Amino acid sequence: MSITESARDESTRLKPIAADPVLAQRWMVVARSEDVTDAPVRAEVLGEAVVLWRNETGLYAFRDLCIHRGAALSLGRVETGGLVCPYHGWRYGGDGSCTHIPAQPAGSKVPTKARALSYACRERYGLVWVALETPETDLPEYPEASQPGFHTLSVGPYVLNAEPPRVIENFLDVSHLMWVHEGLLGVPDYAEIPEHQVHRVGNTLKSDPIDIFQPDPDGRGKALTNRYVYEVLAPTTARFRKTDPDSGEVFSMLLHATPTRAGETLAYALLSRNYDLDAPDETYVAFQNTLMAQDKRIIESQRPENLPLDLQAELHLKSDRLAIAYRRYLNELGVERGTA
Ligand code: FES
Ligand SMILES: [Fe+2]
Repeated sequence: MSITESARDESTRLKPIAADPVLAQRWMVVARSEDVTDAPVRAEVLGEAVVLWRNETGLYAFRDLCIHRGAALSLGRVETGGLVCPYHGWRYGGDGSCTHIPAQPAGSKVPTKARALSYACRERYGLVWVALETPETDLPEYPEASQPGFHTLSVGPYVLNAEPPRVIENFLDVSHLMWVHEGLLGVPDYAEIPEHQVHRVGNTLKSDPIDIFQPDPDGRGKALTNRYVYEVLAPTTARFRKTDPDSGEVFSMLLHATPTRAGETLAYALLSRNYDLDAPDETYVAFQNTLMAQDKRIIESQRPENLPLDLQAELHLKSDRLAIAYRRYLNELGVERGTA
């Protein structure tokens, strides 16, 4: 058996992703707002197929399944303010109730059971967020999106053959910057990580400032020492804000890792900066794509795929404080996806 085959066997033993009740109560990004226009869009989250659609009054997320004969509603169309099933033309309103069954004689009552299963759905920061169960918390805060003087753009989604906690932990991992992103976000000669603590703030985690020398932190070729502050906002949402204390330039990033199905994550990100405001978005998108490609090959190689929450399972150093805090946080919240 080859290494690849045995790795695949390992992944088939993963618990069904939809079985995680904690993540089902959390907001997950399922699309970018601009991708949901006048036709329904299919998305996948926690092993569930979801259809997204919009009319004049809002954006809606339903289970991608028509209660009549189980056809995928995402194959249908939006008409007279409702979502129309492609099979027999049943039309559903924004609240999920069926408003029209074409095969019934005109004037007949639509059965009350004729409903689509609708999920909580919000649009914020140019992203579409869905919670499969009643959401336990508000949407994550990302103030830079509306902060005067800042420009925000979205990147991704990036497809990673990995579980979300590995993706988020990579984002929080300070000591990989000099190796995986050598020459850009760090250099091996400055690999030592300054002492820092991680604090619990309400339902989130926040690090002390951490200074990192970066030869080319955003593709402009401008070397500087950035002061990073990391935060974990939710089990699969994290952010950092890095500041150049000399110039006052700030660069922030929000990363959200959506579990689509076992072994697959879609990573959505927002990038904000208060400088170089005239530069085309493409420059910053391309730079982020490069960084993500560098991370992807490492993250997809990690075994076990599920983050070991037992702190005895891997080795931890002081420089891994964010990872340790994140693993404890997932453990406390009871996120099953992190168990080895
Ligand atoms: S399966 Fe949707 S209308 Fe029949
Ligand atoms: Fe990275």
